[in-house]
Amino acid sequence: MREHPSSRVDLRSDTITQPTASMRKEMHHAVVGDDVLGDDPTVIQLEKTVASMFGKEAGLFVASGTMSNAIAIKAHTSPGDEVITERYSHIYLYEGGGYAALSGCSISLVDASHGLMTPENVEKSIRKSQGSGSHYPNGTLVCVENTSNRGGGTCYELSDLDAIAEVAKKNSCKSHIDGARIFNAAIATGESVERICRGYDSVSICLSKGLGAPVGSVLVGTQSFIDRAHRWRKMFGGGWRQAGILAAAGLYALDNHVQRLEEDHKRAKVLAESINNLPNFQVDLSKVQTNMIYVQTKNPAAEVVKSLAEHEIDAFDLTSDSIRLVTHLHITDEDVARVMHAFGEI
Ligand SMILES: Cc1ncc(COP(=O)(O)O)c(C=O)c1O
Repeated sequence: MREHPSSRVDLRSDTITQPTASMRKEMHHAVVGDDVLGDDPTVIQLEKTVASMFGKEAGLFVASGTMSNAIAIKAHTSPGDEVITERYSHIYLYEGGGYAALSGCSISLVDASHGLMTPENVEKSIRKSQGSGSHYPNGTLVCVENTSNRGGGTCYELSDLDAIAEVAKKNSCKSHIDGARIFNAAIATGESVERICRGYDSVSICLSKGLGAPVGSVLVGTQSFIDRAHRWRKMFGGGWRQAGILAAAGLYALDNHVQRLEEDHKRAKVLAESINNLPNFQVDLSKVQTNMIYVQTKNPAAEVVKSLAEHEIDAFDLTSDSIRLVTHLHITDEDVARVMHAFGEI
């Protein structure tokens, strides 16, 4: 499926995806109401659908993955608490320090290999005020990112996920999954999203990444958690009115764009293998588990990105010697061939 208004091959992120013609049709016909007043039927349908898919009591439709995580942290913690999460997690690196500014929390960083924390390292990173003479903050929330973006799009083993949830419970912590790409994890591992997230108190799910909706995330958890989250969404300015027009895109994406993630994963693998065969580039193929490829470059990454741009291919340089490529619903086999050819020329 290409359906992209440009001839460029844009591999910067799966967030660049645009609503397809069929998705726009669903949005056009969406029945809407006033979601602040609680009567937008399409929003209600989306929230119920996602909650039920994840085996949780309730859901809340919000504007972005960042907002979903921020509301989850706010609803699970009190000021002075500490959030335990991976060193390169999105919550820590790329959400503007919202955990500190909005929730008054500190962060305990967990070292991990390719973004995947072990239960042992999580447990070691939980600090409690009690027993420390009030020296430590109170670790009360464990956040897990699955798939792990900076880890390379890697997926957790179920046994580790279950054990981390157990560690959280044993240490009187709540547990949250940043599931911006949780459907990629489900497709790659063959497990249902319900099973993956079973032990967790809340999950934030993005509709606007690989699933291709223009906007939106759904936060799921218990009814009492979602009731608190609803209040924080209001206070963060996230109460919205005829949001059903966006929820319709989300419902379409859930019906039509989940299974096809498999294609993105296959294309990422093909591309990764071919780039890894070139002398100036290296890819850790064991980490190419979903739709992301992290490429180590011999030449400066910024120069590689510039050369790719001259071939009408867009990528991000992450560090001075690494770039990231992400496959998504606008990338076809022909595009993959174009990218392989361009890398061969660099
Ligand atoms: C793992 C992860 N979590 C959360 C987000 C935030 O999503 P948004 O850009 O919708 O705020 C992203 C965005 O790319 C992400 O990769």
